[in-house]
This record gives sequence, C-alpha cells and structure tokens, in this order.
Amino acid sequence: STILVLHGPNLNMLGTREPEVYGHETLADIDDRLRQQAADNGHHLLHLQSNAEYELIDRVHEARAEGVDFIIINPAAFTHTSVALRDAILASEIPFIEVHLSNVHAREAFRHHSYFSDIAEGVICGLGSQGYEFALQAALKRIN
Ligand code: DQA
Repeated sequence: STILVLHGPNLNMLGTREPEVYGHETLADIDDRLRQQAADNGHHLLHLQSNAEYELIDRVHEARAEGVDFIIINPAAFTHTSVALRDAILASEIPFIEVHLSNVHAREAFRHHSYFSDIAEGVICGLGSQGYEFALQAALKRIN
C-alpha cells in the first residue's frame, strides 16, 4: 500500500523554527523515519512539503489518480484557513489523519479551529514528531 505524507507551509523550517514549540528535528529527519517505518511494514511512503496551497491541492488530486491508500497531513497554517485544501481531500475520498506537532488547543484562539478535524479519521496534536509515527501506525493498521 501507499501512504502519502503532506506537510504545509513553514514546516520546511523545522529544526530552526521556534524550536521551543516545534522541536529540534528537521523535516528530513521526520520523513526518513516515517519512510523506514513504512518500509519495515512492507509499505511505500511518499511525502511532500509545500508552502503553496495549490501544490498541496494538486498533490491530493494526483494521489487519487495514483491510488494512494491513506494520507497523513499536517496542513500547518492552512489548517485554520483552507477550505480549498479541505475540498480537495473530500474530493479525493482518501482517508486521512491530521497531525500537529504542537498542542494547537493550548495556543492562540485562531489555532483552535481546523477545517480538517471533522472529516479526519483522527487528529493527533501536541506530541511533537512522535505524532506522525502514531498516525502512521494507525494508518498501517487500517490499511492491513
Ligand atoms: C502546526 C500548528 C499550526 O497552527 C501552525 O500554523 C503550524 C504548525 C503544528 O504542527 O503544530 O505551522 O500545524
């Protein structure tokens, strides 16, 4: 099976971006670990980070055509703004888990609303990069 991991804007800055909030690991560290975790279980993992909303939307459209089985997404700031990315995922009919590194509910009020949570299989936040590993574990279990 194929799992697609999508990372939204500014997550390319992980490692140096507000490390007290987001940790010291880089996005490459996280993606490498996830790729290994998927491979260990006999699955294929693809990933994309983009700062551009349309690139994430186009990638979701391609994912449907490619037969991607599951999406793990940290929409980052688009969580709180993007009806368009929500609609793309709905159109794809691909099940997904929403991940946030930080506990968005313990932060500014504008981070409390998500355009994704009500249509997600599950939501993980506040556990740092470990949240992605839990999400992948859950995705693999659902696929198998
Ligand atoms: C984030 C939380 C968002 O509110 C923020 O805009 C991000 C990262 C997280 O992983 O904690 O860029 O999605």
